[in-house]
Amino acid sequence: MRSGLQLSAPATLCLLQPLLLLQVSAYFGLTGREVLTHLSLPRQGATSTKLHLKQCDLLTLSRKQKRLCRKEPGLAEVLRDAIRLGVMECQYQFRNERWNCSLDGRTELLKGGFKETGFLYAVSSAALSHSLAKACSSGRLERCTCDDSPDLENQKAWQWGVCGDNIKYSTRFLKNFLGQKKIGKDLRAKVDIHNTKMGIKAVKNGLKTTCKCHGVSGSCAVRTCWKQLSPFHEIGRLLKTKYDNAVKVFSATNDATGHSELVGPQAHGHSSRLPRSTDLVYMEDSPNFCRRSTYSPGTAGRSCSKETNCDSMCCGRGHNTRSRMVTFSCHCQVQWCCHVECQQCMQEEEVYTCKR
Ligand SMILES: *[C@@H]1O[C@H](CO)[C@@H](O)[C@H](O)[C@H]1NC(C)=O
Repeated sequence: MRSGLQLSAPATLCLLQPLLLLQVSAYFGLTGREVLTHLSLPRQGATSTKLHLKQCDLLTLSRKQKRLCRKEPGLAEVLRDAIRLGVMECQYQFRNERWNCSLDGRTELLKGGFKETGFLYAVSSAALSHSLAKACSSGRLERCTCDDSPDLENQKAWQWGVCGDNIKYSTRFLKNFLGQKKIGKDLRAKVDIHNTKMGIKAVKNGLKTTCKCHGVSGSCAVRTCWKQLSPFHEIGRLLKTKYDNAVKVFSATNDATGHSELVGPQAHGHSSRLPRSTDLVYMEDSPNFCRRSTYSPGTAGRSCSKETNCDSMCCGRGHNTRSRMVTFSCHCQVQWCCHVECQQCMQEEEVYTCKR
């Protein structure tokens, strides 16, 4: 099987940026014209095609992407969902960090070459890849369906009506959708592409084979297996680990080929190594995100945990302490039969927030 995105440096992905910026417009740029309740959209009929085209127009896409979007009914919704998924996962993974993946400052961050920039590229491409593969297997797109790889196991699964997530379609589609602009020697573009591919690969590597037995009770005379993606939270956690261990890269000319390539730091006098395809790479050290800047709103007012991260979160400015009452269920007893009765108790709880 062909693996993943086999892209050479010159002809590659670099159109993810419009989509990342779209995340900002999807949140801030709400004009009131958007259809936000995508679940209640009519699926059939004359209006649905028009609606679909309109949804493509509302997204911030390159010309080529817009054309692909218009050609594929259902795609606009999947793209929107993917954008939401990426934003929410990023904010979840960074909820206890100085940079909380706020949309405020994102446009500037995307122009830099920070670890955070790399994470945004990786999590966004991963969300796209995940959402597309799932959309195929759940019947939301017309042009793809269940995993249709020709292996025998998979053929059997089809017969049993089991539907595997279609990562092959998703990867092929993204290669076209995000792809093909000449980038030459630009280090920035190489870094973005590297992280974009890394995100897609993380989803692909998280593909698990699930099996089910059929036949006389427990005999497992017939077994069907299919491919299922990991929950997106797992991929988010993996990408956060990659962010924590990100590799700083430089551009160097390969003497043998004459092409420039990304190289990692020199390790103790040895020649520098190439970053692995599973590394998150960056070029610039991050700002500290303590104070409001073009990159972030700063950490003033952020809540923190006294035991663990108030010192670092508040950047040494100290924290305010305030107490509030919280209600919770208590003295619960099982009543015969069959429910639980509880009382409501109140308790004081301390809340810590970073000073200005
Ligand atoms: C991130 O932090 C900013 C600044 O304190 C805050 O206004 C914002 O609500 C936070 N965003 C999220 C998603 O937690």
